[in-house]
Amino acid sequence: MNYLSGKHVLLGITGGIAAYKAAELVRLLRNADAGVRVIMTAGAREFITPLTLQALSGNPVHTDLLDSTAEAAMGHIELARWADVLLVAPATADSLARLVHGRADDLLTAVCLACEAPRAVAPAMNRAMWDNPATRDNISTLAARGLHVLGPATGEQACGETGPGRMLEPQALVDQLSGLFRTGRLAGRRVVVTAGPTREAIDPVRYISNRSSGRMGFAVARAAAEAGADVTLVSGPVALETPPGLQRVDVTSAADMHAAVMQRAPDSDIFIAVAAVADYRPQASATQKIRKSEATMELLLERNPDILADVAALSGAPFTVGFAAETEALPESAKNKRIAKGIDMIAANLVGEGLGFEVDENALHVIWDGGERELPCTGKTRLAVQLVELIADRYDSRQTQDKVTPINAKDTA
Ligand code: PMT
Repeated sequence: MNYLSGKHVLLGITGGIAAYKAAELVRLLRNADAGVRVIMTAGAREFITPLTLQALSGNPVHTDLLDSTAEAAMGHIELARWADVLLVAPATADSLARLVHGRADDLLTAVCLACEAPRAVAPAMNRAMWDNPATRDNISTLAARGLHVLGPATGEQACGETGPGRMLEPQALVDQLSGLFRTGRLAGRRVVVTAGPTREAIDPVRYISNRSSGRMGFAVARAAAEAGADVTLVSGPVALETPPGLQRVDVTSAADMHAAVMQRAPDSDIFIAVAAVADYRPQASATQKIRKSEATMELLLERNPDILADVAALSGAPFTVGFAAETEALPESAKNKRIAKGIDMIAANLVGEGLGFEVDENALHVIWDGGERELPCTGKTRLAVQLVELIADRYDSRQTQDKVTPINAKDTA
């Protein structure tokens, strides 16, 4: 499975002879349908031109920390936030040492320091430099801090020697990078996710709906699939491609979504309701287009079923996760909503002009019984990965509790 499709890959190129392979790497990443942005150090620019990388990535290449034009367009913090994964390839011995020391005196090191996405390095250097205890210590330190070390390979080197220190081939790097997104946290679990808006028909040409684009729900479904779950995505009308590796069911109205979910939820382990379901629908939908006659008209609305509450009320209900779209009093309203709907966890987000709906970034305040966690503003893809990790943690802890409860009950009987 290609886990890189739609992901943002930030590629840092440092000054080693293997920099020329970065061109092929960028081409393969683009073939894998990843968005690619490139940062080049001054040394890298001695080996390969920014123009080549710009043409292949389809984006301007970033080079200077203090370039006011580049900084204004996308500064080091924006670049760090944009990334779903950061790869330094080739990573020279010097660049590894600089990362160990948390240097931030050029664009690449500053971005590495600011980046909270998974980070990986693909070392490339002479075999003696690789074997040197200083480099080995640096690699151990970076690995202990959670950086992924991809390679190096062993073989003939540009300096004429043979041994470990060659950068992994571009295809191997792409495969390993893709594998970083396959966590296996939800392996074997069945997960149902709702996404997008619903449409409530007024007549054959008009409807009541909302601004949900489906991006958050699709990102959550995708993150669950990447975590190894068997995912069914029940989606309202949206203009999004189906993420790889999951089953999609398209619906239109809240009633359709309710039926599709209630058919599947009893057999699922986790239900995540991201959809912006219309709370009300017209009591009667006209069979013919309503003609304009009076200056005003009244539309009588009736409540839609609450899908999330109905799933939570099932006997043997799955672990239920709701979203709360709020324009004010975020944690308090969301806490009340979680209790009112009887669900295990709620992810609250602020919505309004430029917030929550339709945009690419979001922030969540996640609340469960006895705990809460802020997931700061970032791209919806990365946010969804963080949320799914949290859901997997809480789900595992509920499973453990469920297992110990009968034993306690027996002990006290
Ligand atoms: O799609 P995007 O453009 O990416 O925007 C994402 C989002 C803002 C839509 C998303 O992050 C979000 O907040 N989704 C929940 C929207 C919502 O309907 O919130 P609510 O507070 O009204 O509902 C609370 C929960 O009950 C939600 O999980 C909702 O799916 C569920 N619900 C609501 C009504 C209903 N009849 N049935 C439900 O299941």
